[in-house]
Amino acid sequence: EYHLHPKELDLASNGVFGKFDRRQLQRGFQVYKEVCAACHSLRLVAFRDLQKIGYSEPEVKAIANQWVIEQPSINPETGEAATRKNIPSDHFPLPFANDVAARAANNNALPPDLSLMTKARHDGGAYIHSLLTGYQPQSAKMLKEFPDIKTPEGLHYNPYFANLNIAMPPPLTSDGQVGYADGTKATKEQMSTDVAAFLTWTAEPNLEARHAAGFASIIFILIFCGLAWGAYQNVWRDVK
Ligand code: HEM
Repeated sequence: EYHLHPKELDLASNGVFGKFDRRQLQRGFQVYKEVCAACHSLRLVAFRDLQKIGYSEPEVKAIANQWVIEQPSINPETGEAATRKNIPSDHFPLPFANDVAARAANNNALPPDLSLMTKARHDGGAYIHSLLTGYQPQSAKMLKEFPDIKTPEGLHYNPYFANLNIAMPPPLTSDGQVGYADGTKATKEQMSTDVAAFLTWTAEPNLEARHAAGFASIIFILIFCGLAWGAYQNVWRDVK
């Protein structure tokens, strides 16, 4: 009763005619970069993949080069562990050295990789948006009915999260938290929708090609049915 289904979210990629809104994907990437990347990895995505959402090659080079977390590497002189700047063919670097370090920084909870998150949860895009905007105080009625749900120290109540109490502190706290390059007003609603759109793309970058292939197949089947019907008429023309 207290665990809520995600709110409806109208994304350009929804439905059989769905296409990505590239400007929205770029805004969503900005939210990932400036907010989520502090804790969450995106290890299945490479910097150069950003060209598919409309960044130019030099832009991608610059984004990789300026990424705050560097790639683990080895100093060729000494053989010691070192880091180097990211290049376009690198995947996004992990924000923590390993899971132990990640837990140590997050109250013993592990921030999951976000590459496939919209596939891992029902109504993935809508879920992300609802989760990010769903933090709220617990109602007195609920606490009276189920005192055990009371949010423990260090967790945060969120009715869209299956456990109801989540270790992630509200990441989007104020309007204007991200300065959008395209001038869109960065309300919480806007930022959470944009990052949901971006994570829908990371989980299924080929969605548009899949939709197009579906259409081509259906058109082919329609033409084929027409021809088959014509052939049937032709074959039985002389039979009463
Ligand atoms: C969990 C998204 C920012 C720490 C999650 C989950 C999602 C998510 C989808 C998984 C929920 C589930 O399992 O169903 C995001 C997005 C962010 C963001 C889109 C940026 C807008 C952050 C930041 C931190 C953080 C900045 C660290 C300060 C965590 C932790 C968990 C988590 C620790 C695990 C929670 C648990 O298992 O209780 N996040 N996150 N997240 N996130 Fe974030």
